[in-house]
Amino acid sequence: LAGRRVVPPRLPRVPSADTVVIVGEAPGETEERQATPFVGDSGIELHAGTDAVGLAWSGLHLTNTILCRPPNNKLDVYLRGLNGPSPVTCCAPRLERELRPYRKIITVGATSLQALTGTRSTITAVRGSAMELDGKKLLPTIHPAFVLRQPRWRRWFRFDLARALRWFAGNLDWAPPKIHRQPSPEQLRVFLARPSKVWAWDLETEWRGALDARIYCCGIGTADGSRVAMVHLLSIDGQTLLYKRSDLGEIHRILAEFWQSPTWVKLGQNSIAFDAATVRARWAP
Ligand code: URA
Repeated sequence: LAGRRVVPPRLPRVPSADTVVIVGEAPGETEERQATPFVGDSGIELHAGTDAVGLAWSGLHLTNTILCRPPNNKLDVYLRGLNGPSPVTCCAPRLERELRPYRKIITVGATSLQALTGTRSTITAVRGSAMELDGKKLLPTIHPAFVLRQPRWRRWFRFDLARALRWFAGNLDWAPPKIHRQPSPEQLRVFLARPSKVWAWDLETEWRGALDARIYCCGIGTADGSRVAMVHLLSIDGQTLLYKRSDLGEIHRILAEFWQSPTWVKLGQNSIAFDAATVRARWAP
């Protein structure tokens, strides 16, 4: 690409280690004309996406894997090295140097992710994954040009941008819930009395018809993932009841109330099929 116009990175107003860098593929025609990255249609889509998640455009460092537009946008020809060495390889030391001061990177499209990590995975398989690269935080997403061609991907594009912000802010960490194993009837009532927007639930049953399958265990968890109750009803020997008979009736009454009352908004694993039929047969006729 020697001799073609270089489209330099667009620097943020106040660069810092906390600046978010967005790495694209290569400048398009509009970018080449204006010598500024992301000012054409893809840039407008990207800008709308960053606005939607609350990332100020002026605070971003915008750059590309390669800084020159390949003739007719035929980058793939060059990537395959058909016209000599790949411009991605030529530009790699520059990109590496450019990213050195930063630690928060969003790559858009496959080319930039591949240039930085060497991955061969498709972008749709890895988009949205929180990654670490030489002590930097990296989150890949799809290219805004792809969003323009396939608008149904827009929500996932923006979802990834928002997720990148959570990753950069250290808010993606998952803490294991506090597990209340085998709560007494009193403890189960207390567990269910503390509010949660929705309640996740799942059953483990024996493998037979849903209407008469015996239930080994029932798990209920809160929406924020902080609390889980594990109600073990039946041992894996299929015989031994794990609650005292004196408590069992009360446990069943509480569970019946849980499933019958709209007070608890429920979200179940597999809950439109087998487990829903089992629950209905047992607790919520
Ligand atoms: N697409 C890119 O990947 N980069 C730009 O700068 C513009 C469009």
